[in-house]
Amino acid sequence: MPHEVKGVVATGKGAPVAIQTVVVPDPGPGEALVSVQACGVCHTDLHYREGGIGDDFPYLLGHEAAGLVEAVGPDVTGLEPGDFVILNWRAVCGQCRACLRGRPWYCFATHNAAQKMTLTDGTPLAPALGIGAFADKTLVAAGQCTKVSPAIKPEVAGLLGCGVMAGLGAVLNTARVTRGDSVAVIGCGGVGDAAILGASLAGARKIIAVDIDDRKLNWARQFGATDTVNSASADPVEQIRALTDGNGADVVIEAVGRPETYTQAFYARDLAGTVVLVGVPNPQMRLDLPLLDVFGRGGTLKSSWYGDCLPARDFPMLVDLHLQGRLPLDKFVSETIALDSVEEAFAKMQRGEVLRSVVLL
Ligand SMILES: NC(=O)c1ccc[n+]([C@@H]2O[C@H](COP(=O)([O-])OP(=O)(O)OC[C@H]3O[C@@H](n4cnc5c(N)ncnc54)[C@H](O)[C@@H]3O)[C@@H](O)[C@H]2O)c1
Ligand SMILES: [Zn+2]
Repeated sequence: MPHEVKGVVATGKGAPVAIQTVVVPDPGPGEALVSVQACGVCHTDLHYREGGIGDDFPYLLGHEAAGLVEAVGPDVTGLEPGDFVILNWRAVCGQCRACLRGRPWYCFATHNAAQKMTLTDGTPLAPALGIGAFADKTLVAAGQCTKVSPAIKPEVAGLLGCGVMAGLGAVLNTARVTRGDSVAVIGCGGVGDAAILGASLAGARKIIAVDIDDRKLNWARQFGATDTVNSASADPVEQIRALTDGNGADVVIEAVGRPETYTQAFYARDLAGTVVLVGVPNPQMRLDLPLLDVFGRGGTLKSSWYGDCLPARDFPMLVDLHLQGRLPLDKFVSETIALDSVEEAFAKMQRGEVLRSVVLL
């Protein structure tokens, strides 16, 4: 029997989100019904609300979530009611071209379970990142549920489902930062700070945090930044070079998603260094770089989708590191809020007052 629950819906471009009743069907073959316990407010949710990702309104927002499996479809194995899971937006299929070539972190399989959720009048909802978890319950593909130790708090665990994984993975998996590297991170929100934490975990010797907000730079130090640059008042390229013996950083992580910050990242890296774009641009943005510089500076220009993670490999490992006290993921949780405060949380995010507001359900 379908369940009627409250969910946070974006109805049109730029319109404030509203709580609406969402109809969640019972799980069919290959699906799982999850009782959501916590879901973080990620900048990507705001991108959806602003029409920056697509025009498939109404969207059911929320995708950084953890919860308890409530029911599974008839053929589902390895997952049962009561399991504590982090939801992921990369349920590796094992069948697609990327998986068969041994590069499952590029798996492009889409999972349609969450698209079965509707408003009470039958209007289909487009679930953010195929999840839609600002709701008491959500329906996902069983592979989108990654079991982890229930010893971690749900509001902390959920963050591994998107932003924190994206930042950690951009450094650990995509850039493959290692002991002794210098790393600069442009944009120190939840994603950028996770990149800073990843660089610290990997043994980077210099970690330069760049943001336009001093409050963010202070927080960045708590995650392991050794130096900070306020790029509203100083040229970040010059500063990063000055902090790296005039060379530039081995790796620059762009965690804003704008042409000007990408250009800074491009020029702030050492010759033959690496740039990783993690920030998500909007469809109107264009990049203008001298092609000769792209050639002449060499190195590696990469994007990182979801930190090139493999949820089944990375989530349980990162949860274990957290439980051992080696990965202070709880520092990302600025506040816990109720489902009806997501719009306010977007405003706080835009004013730079929070790293992550997390909805508790
Ligand atoms: N690639 C992925 O898989 C992935 C996953 C999650 C989020 N994201 C994207 O990562 C980006 C960051 O997400 P977030 O949740 O950390 O957002 P956030 O809003 O919490 O943080 C953005 C930070 O960038 C700073 N900033 C803004 N303009 C700047 C500028 N010109 N120079 C320097 N700093 C600037 C802000 O002060 C803020 O601290 C977003 O674009 C989001 O969509 C990507
Ligand atoms: Zn996200």
